[in-house]
Amino acid sequence: MTSTADNSIRSIGILGAGRVGAALARRSVAAGYDVRIATARPAAEISLLTEILTPGATAASAAELADTDLTIVAIPLRKYRELDPSLFAGRAVVDVMNYWAPTDGTQADFESDHRTSSEIIQGHLTGSRLVKTFNHIGYHELETDHRPSGAVDRRALAVAGDHDQTRWAVAGVIDRLGFDAVDAGPLAAGRALQPGTEIFNGSHSAPRLSHLLAEACAQVAV
Ligand SMILES: NC(=O)c1ccc[n+]([C@@H]2O[C@H](COP(=O)([O-])OP(=O)(O)OC[C@H]3O[C@@H](n4cnc5c(N)ncnc54)[C@H](OP(=O)(O)O)[C@@H]3O)[C@@H](O)[C@H]2O)c1
Repeated sequence: MTSTADNSIRSIGILGAGRVGAALARRSVAAGYDVRIATARPAAEISLLTEILTPGATAASAAELADTDLTIVAIPLRKYRELDPSLFAGRAVVDVMNYWAPTDGTQADFESDHRTSSEIIQGHLTGSRLVKTFNHIGYHELETDHRPSGAVDRRALAVAGDHDQTRWAVAGVIDRLGFDAVDAGPLAAGRALQPGTEIFNGSHSAPRLSHLLAEACAQVAV
């Protein structure tokens, strides 16, 4: 994907200051992005936490993330209906959330719908350009597995989304954070990255990840 990845993203807003949100914030600061981080609480309530956990990032309100080039949503999936779609309309958004019943409990929305979890989120965040990635790497691995571009043991992450340019822009972010980006195609192809899949369960090089995505695609076509 390196030929199509671009560097159009300059600022990143992260909604969710928990395990994965904080790890992504630290990596993004280290990669030179202007980073804002928010929860559902007022910015003042998380400013101390931000100083300690994600130095270099700015505490913000959820509404203030709308001034950034890309919003990463890193909250528990069961809370997705609390997201105000008007804050995301017309914007590039990364969904890192997973539906994982054994830890999060059974949720009717995701049990009864044939769509992937990210397609359901896209349906809620109408008008946003949603991309699924970073869901298939552990929060701690974001800070241990990154490598410079070209490293032989560089880990790859898949990028699924219905808007080509947003996928490429997010691929540029993945690369700057220290991972190869592999194009998975449309958001529906994100099924291959969901919990329980080989992609979700492992750490893969770019060629191996491309192979697994092609296999998953072929299975859908049968
Ligand atoms: N943990 C991982 O390794 C990992 C890896 C990849 C993907 N994921 C996925 O990423 C998501 C987050 O996981 P996590 O482990 O980081 O969770 P977490 O540690 O529980 O953190 C969740 C964060 O979301 C905030 N939050 C909750 N409701 C919110 C709302 N309505 N608006 C804004 N912020 C809200 C929480 O703030 P408060 O503390 O104020 O409630 C907290 O900062 C999950 O969907 C998970 O499946 C996790």
